[in-house]
Amino acid sequence: MEKKRSSFTGKIGFVLAAAGSAVGLGNIWRFPYLAAQYGGGIFLLVYLILAVTFGFALMCAEIAIGRKTGQSAINAYGQLNKKFSFIGWLGALVPVIILPYYSVIGGWVTKYLTVYIKGEVAAAAGDAYFGGFVSNVGPSIGYFLIFLGATALVVLLGVEKGIEKVSKIMMPILVVLTIFIAVYSMTLPGAMEGVKYYLIPNFDGFTVGKLGKTLLAAMGQLFYSMSLAMGIMITYGSYMKKDVSIEKSVRQIELFDTGIAFLAGLMVVPAVFAFSGGEADVGKGPSLMFVSLPKVFEFMGPVAGRIVGLLFFLLVLFAALTSSISLMETVVSIVRDKLGWGRKVACLVVFAGCIALGLPSALGFGVLSHIKPLGLDDILTFFDFISNSVIMPIVALLTCIFIGYVFKPKALIEEIEIGGQFKAKTLFTVVIKYIAPVFITLILVSSVLDAFGIMKI
Ligand code: TRP
Repeated sequence: MEKKRSSFTGKIGFVLAAAGSAVGLGNIWRFPYLAAQYGGGIFLLVYLILAVTFGFALMCAEIAIGRKTGQSAINAYGQLNKKFSFIGWLGALVPVIILPYYSVIGGWVTKYLTVYIKGEVAAAAGDAYFGGFVSNVGPSIGYFLIFLGATALVVLLGVEKGIEKVSKIMMPILVVLTIFIAVYSMTLPGAMEGVKYYLIPNFDGFTVGKLGKTLLAAMGQLFYSMSLAMGIMITYGSYMKKDVSIEKSVRQIELFDTGIAFLAGLMVVPAVFAFSGGEADVGKGPSLMFVSLPKVFEFMGPVAGRIVGLLFFLLVLFAALTSSISLMETVVSIVRDKLGWGRKVACLVVFAGCIALGLPSALGFGVLSHIKPLGLDDILTFFDFISNSVIMPIVALLTCIFIGYVFKPKALIEEIEIGGQFKAKTLFTVVIKYIAPVFITLILVSSVLDAFGIMKI
């Protein structure tokens, strides 16, 4: 039986809800470490170009598909064309892969919150602190389970509304605090080198192979951060009213999401240069934020550092929780729709599945650190790679081909124009039909060949 869909109230309701899902660990944890790893200014430039072209077109397309069909992803593709419902299925796989390792990072955030509650400001800034934590089996599993358990509890009890209300207050405070820490970080002695590294593209020694990898990393980050290529925005679109402008909403969501990611980079990257080995440390990967920010907080002094650190990790925890809750909701609703299970059973099964899938990621920095799938640094990075750099680009590619050549952009443009003028429709059509398919294919093929060691780029 089809339930009647409720819609977002007002114009701003949609943007806030979609931005709430988009802003999370992707912006604060993932963007800075990728930017640091992939050449700073070059990554930033590539990311911005992709955001206003690929990101814009794909988000418009997904929201329009959702609003047109009034369905969530799996059913939406099927309704437009039976043969293409598999795109929805493939997209649905992404939250299943992301949620378990997202909870591992959420666990790290929880751990650091307790550190600042206890006032261990100096200890947390020690070089070996993070490594000591993640290599210890008990805490690395414990905090992962606490975060995942909290997420599951909220979904099980159906109290998301409460969390959403709190996070609507927390989000603006997080933005203000991020600006404050970024400014503080930039004025640290030695930080200017980092600011330059982050903002000014340096093409010295930049090769085609590096460009390919940077493009893939930036593209994966774009999808991840804006919750694209996994059906989420289709679902959001299905709740959107017809008189709201899709184009304007997408611009606002993009600006908000990219703005926060940019600030997070400004907070983390200069700190790496101020306190650690600068260029030598930029490739630290997933641990970067947890290693560099405690040093910034320590520099503030024991009292101020404790307050700012506590507030920061508390706010990030909320941003992470709203995302993980919405990820788990997505997975639970897929399971319920397709298997017809009750809410409680579906929640518990998804929870158990997440534990099983997440444990290897949680242990991958300690007892399982010798396992390096596909030659990647750790198990978490492997899951991250499979979802962001393989499945999501494939979903995006298939979506573009389907819209561009089977369903035709015109049908979606008409949907978008119901809510107002679509100024960028030429850009939309060109990106969907030509630029995105060619680029994504090139990047995907070369990087997969590279990852499997068939061809070195
Ligand atoms: N975009 C979120 C972030 O930046 C992560 C995310 C990916 C997400 N897919 C999602 C959040 C689906 C909610 C729903 O952290």
